Amino acid sequence: MKASLFYFLTATVILFAACSFQTADLRDCTTYALGGLRKVADERSGRFLGKVEEDTARCRGGDKAVALRYTPWIDWQNYWAAGDGTSKARGPSGQHIHLSPNGRGVDGALLDLEYERIELIKFNLFDNSGTYEQYILGRGGVDGAALKSWDEMRLPKDHPAYISVGGDGLQLCQGELIRFRTLSGICNDIRNPLMGSSGQPFARNVEFDTTFPDLGKNELVKNRHGDRLGLLKPDPQVISRKLLTRAQSEPGKCQNGQGLAGYSAAANCDYQKAPFFNTLAAFWIQFMTHDWFSHLEEGRNGAESIGMGCAKHLVNNNETPLTPEQIHQLNCRPDDRIDKSQLAREDRPAAFIYGGKEYLSRAHKITQNKVTAWWDASQLYGFDPISRRRVKRDPADPAKFLLVNARADESMGYLPLLQPSDPMNLQWAGQEATAFPDNWSIGLSFYHNVFAREHNLFVDAFRKEAATTPDEDSGLRDPTRPDHVITYRNVTADELFEAARLVVSAEIAKIHTIEWTPQLLYNEPLYLGMNANWHGLLKDSPLLSKALEKIVVNNFGASEDAKQAGQWYSVFASGPGIFGLGNHVYADNPLFAKFDPEKTDLWELKNPDHVNGGINHFGSPFNFPEEFVTVYRLHPLVPDLIEFREARADPNLIRYKIPMVETVRGKATQAMRRQGLANWGISMGRQRLGLLTLQNSPLFLQNLSLPRLNSPTGRIDVAALDIIRDREHGVPRFNEFRRQYGLKQLASFDEFIDPRLRKNSPERAEQQRLVGILREVYGQHKCDQSKIITTAQLNDDGSKINDCLGHPNGSLVDNIEDVDVVVGMLAEFARPHGFAISETQVQLFLLNASRRLFSDRFFT
Ligand code: HEM
Repeated sequence: MKASLFYFLTATVILFAACSFQTADLRDCTTYALGGLRKVADERSGRFLGKVEEDTARCRGGDKAVALRYTPWIDWQNYWAAGDGTSKARGPSGQHIHLSPNGRGVDGALLDLEYERIELIKFNLFDNSGTYEQYILGRGGVDGAALKSWDEMRLPKDHPAYISVGGDGLQLCQGELIRFRTLSGICNDIRNPLMGSSGQPFARNVEFDTTFPDLGKNELVKNRHGDRLGLLKPDPQVISRKLLTRAQSEPGKCQNGQGLAGYSAAANCDYQKAPFFNTLAAFWIQFMTHDWFSHLEEGRNGAESIGMGCAKHLVNNNETPLTPEQIHQLNCRPDDRIDKSQLAREDRPAAFIYGGKEYLSRAHKITQNKVTAWWDASQLYGFDPISRRRVKRDPADPAKFLLVNARADESMGYLPLLQPSDPMNLQWAGQEATAFPDNWSIGLSFYHNVFAREHNLFVDAFRKEAATTPDEDSGLRDPTRPDHVITYRNVTADELFEAARLVVSAEIAKIHTIEWTPQLLYNEPLYLGMNANWHGLLKDSPLLSKALEKIVVNNFGASEDAKQAGQWYSVFASGPGIFGLGNHVYADNPLFAKFDPEKTDLWELKNPDHVNGGINHFGSPFNFPEEFVTVYRLHPLVPDLIEFREARADPNLIRYKIPMVETVRGKATQAMRRQGLANWGISMGRQRLGLLTLQNSPLFLQNLSLPRLNSPTGRIDVAALDIIRDREHGVPRFNEFRRQYGLKQLASFDEFIDPRLRKNSPERAEQQRLVGILREVYGQHKCDQSKIITTAQLNDDGSKINDCLGHPNGSLVDNIEDVDVVVGMLAEFARPHGFAISETQVQLFLLNASRRLFSDRFFT
């Protein structure tokens, strides 16, 4: 019923819009409105793909949107007002904005994004921890997508908190375990204690049998890739050097990222710059990823070491060894080695049958997320007992972080250095002591110090309040004595430390959601969408917002029709926003409650349902998928040289060009203390970051020394490693990846070229050049249309997709199926306006960024 209400409201708005404006596209708007909104797909192969019908495209974006429907790229980017100023139609605005062409464009884009999210939630959840069979088959008469707790999420017998949560019986977190964010991330969902905690398997967003394509485990994969794939096939260093290296106009002034003597400002390393994003933003995301996921344990992978390529390339589509001259020319290193990725399981996964089809119960191999998956600032506060030992508290006030060595021009100090007695990896020597110290950079030093200071400032503010009103209610409660009021005077240092963690992690989530992301995806629909995640789409309409909140939590969250509930839960949550969904509980109808001064909030700490309020895992326990790590492999963001400025002298003057490589690991810490936080802040804040595109990877990262390796070169090419790691982790290649995520495939490398570019423009010529290199590196093959390559999607005419991708049988086609995702996403030249990242990457964020909020009771 609620779904039809939604259809009705939307159709009414569109119809009204159509009636209000006698524009040329009136007929199309009417046709589209009368046809109703499209149905959410029942089958994976029938999903939306970001492509709309012709009349819808015309209604929302006029002829331009219609003309670009044939491309593989999402349609909403061509709607009215979804791009820069030139994308706006001239016409009415003000209170009728939703009815105008521009309003239809932006609203249409938001609707498309919501459809994508609904279908992503419906089709892309694949848990790797043993619950997938239940998700498909259901359990105890409950539909799989409505399951809310799982045995696999119980604490095991040897867990220190096993008895506290209920041991062998029903497990329910309570007392101290529900009060704050726990160190290892257990008990966020009080009925699924293990969920999201350190060491849980990475999930997947793609069907299990599409993972690890190199293994050729089934007919579809073999048809898709022939025998063309392997860990080092195509050669990762050849890909790195040909497709990812930054070209230099003055190599002598760059010196492979080493710059010039004395950090001379005359140095220059060319890099393509994103016009609207600074280097601080690059390190922000490195700082975030260290909170969310890590494959490495204490900075290490597995014990065995493997080669990294620089051995073969394609000649006339045949793999041929590189000659010494070619190696020299490419500037790659055949003797580089790296430690193998750690695997948690690689035994054969069990299979089960449903609806006559065989399903794998998990991916062919499993890796673990070594940190908590929660947005809990674990990079600062710790994610296990070892990392917590690196977190130093101030002996003078243990509610605070220890900060030392304040500079004369600053009132607060810096995190202390790691000591030999701290758990550490040799290459971290000389760095700041913090929970997650790996791949340390000047940017990480900046953020760890900033948020340690922020934590301490919160404590100062709290203590100030406590000093003035020591006997007032502090607002804190102890779940073991829920009715007992804790006065300011009685708040312990430990309680205050943990309360500060809650505040700091929420601040970080808010900055990321409504400041960093709208800048990364700089256009109107995404600005509104991201703010909707936080405040709700209806923040200016609290009445409707509250009504939707009630519908979502009380009705849809508990609906028997689970798939439907899951789909619409996310829709309605965009009304009130995900944050605070479960903060209040009212007995009365929220519409009337709004006008009732006597209404009471029934939320109670004693009620487990209230404590867990507002969360929804959509039938699949939350963890990040392996594919999420892939789309955060964003190394091209980092410049090779930092343009150093001084905040208090003339900040317009670039005083030095400091090689980034001189500001990693312990050198970051020295540089931070020497120059001070403010100077690094203005320097990184004034410098543009690197555009995420081909041939824009930092030179210093292609030549990074890694002393722990003991390899002949002692160096690695991080761009090549990004490719190797994804292959080790079994990430499907680019085209199947897009099909799995509900985006259109590409039929050739040429489709990477931005279709909006003029025929003879220099940009088109450059993209054609890069496409030529893609073809040279990944090659071509004679296609065979009898080979079906996927079941994720169908051709537009309903036929199965085959090896020829629409080209004539037996013709030479591009090996577009083999492209590694990290390469493909950099090659996506056609992007929505203001997108620093590609539409494929954003598709993942739509699902996973929302999910990490929906699943976390501290946010809901
Ligand atoms: C000076 C800066 C940086 C250095 C020295 C660095 C170095 C590295 C290295 C050596 C690895 C490989 C670890 C392994 O698999 O063995 C890695 C992984 C990674 N890096 Fe960076 N990186 C830097 C900046 C960034 C930035 C700005 C991002 C942006 C998000 C980023 C995202 C990642 C991700 C997502 C991984 C994979 C982590 C995992 O598998 O758990 N890095 N980095």
